[in-house]
Amino acid sequence: MSERSRAAIVTGAAQGIGRAEAERLAGSGAFVVLNDVDSDLLRETVAALGGPGVAAGVAGDVSRPETARELVAAATADGRYLDSVVANAAVLRTGMIYDLDDADWSDVVSATLGGTFWLAREAARYWRDRERGGADARRATLVLTTSRAAILANPGQSSYAAAKAGVAVMAQTLARELRAYGVRVNAIAPRAYTKMMRDGVGDFDPAALEEWSPTHVGRFVEFLCSEHAGDITGQLFVVHGWHVSLVRTFAVSDAVDLDWAAGHEAAAARIDGLFGEDPKEIAAFQVDDLPLARPDAPSPFSVENR
Ligand SMILES: NC(=O)c1ccc[n+]([C@@H]2O[C@H](COP(=O)([O-])OP(=O)(O)OC[C@H]3O[C@@H](n4cnc5c(N)ncnc54)[C@H](O)[C@@H]3O)[C@@H](O)[C@H]2O)c1
Repeated sequence: MSERSRAAIVTGAAQGIGRAEAERLAGSGAFVVLNDVDSDLLRETVAALGGPGVAAGVAGDVSRPETARELVAAATADGRYLDSVVANAAVLRTGMIYDLDDADWSDVVSATLGGTFWLAREAARYWRDRERGGADARRATLVLTTSRAAILANPGQSSYAAAKAGVAVMAQTLARELRAYGVRVNAIAPRAYTKMMRDGVGDFDPAALEEWSPTHVGRFVEFLCSEHAGDITGQLFVVHGWHVSLVRTFAVSDAVDLDWAAGHEAAAARIDGLFGEDPKEIAAFQVDDLPLARPDAPSPFSVENR
């Protein structure tokens, strides 16, 4: 039995960003329940964090609602208070939409969007039931993991970008739903050199690895889960190394009114007014600042000749 009275959950935590988040939350004094589908690597990571007094592993696929129930049960055993929940696990499949098969859609959506929903729902039920049971009001934090793929609409990642966009909006919805229970909900779009990044885009220049270390994301999540984050809720941050930016989603313009009786040409002129001087086509995707070891390698985001 652990001496620690606060608990945290991190999914997809056997390696990469999830592991870094689990390390920081354990360092902040929480008992951390780590999840991953890779049960061997999960066991090693739990041991590296300090073993049974500090952490526990719950192997399983976040696509299954049962995994979320097992995670919350393990975190709250022995009367611990669950105050930090990080939905981090995700599945990425890359390819033009005509090359993606049925499982490329369902695996991505059920793990990335479904897995986030099941965990958030289970944690929300725990916080609601606790308060209805008359327990002392306590604060808690939920962190959902989205991606710049959703913000920038990466070509070649239609299923992943769509699932991550759903996660970003879910964070805002849940921030409103759970405010009454003292639960803050935020989303991060992390950037780090991990297995997912390496498999997706290739090796990085070793000189860039310090800036791209997942430890920075772990620190930011520890901050978000702490009282230092104050009242921040319903927000989306890009976190890359020590650089943090705030994302404002869905800017809606002033409306124009259409009069269909005046014909389509008149309607087109009104619609033109929505754009002003701006182009009507979406901008071409710019592969930006990835410090690849081989800068001449073909871009994973290229849509030419595919
Ligand atoms: N690395 C980046 O730059 C980057 C960019 C944008 C978003 N993200 C997001 O950050 C999160 C972490 O990514 P990472 O780069 O650390 O990836 P990673 O591949 O290094 O680690 C992900 C871990 O999640 C586990 N996992 C995968 N599917 C799972 C499932 N269904 N159930 C439980 N565990 C599962 C994997 O086994 C792995 O250990 C993901 O949500 C990812 O989409 C990462």
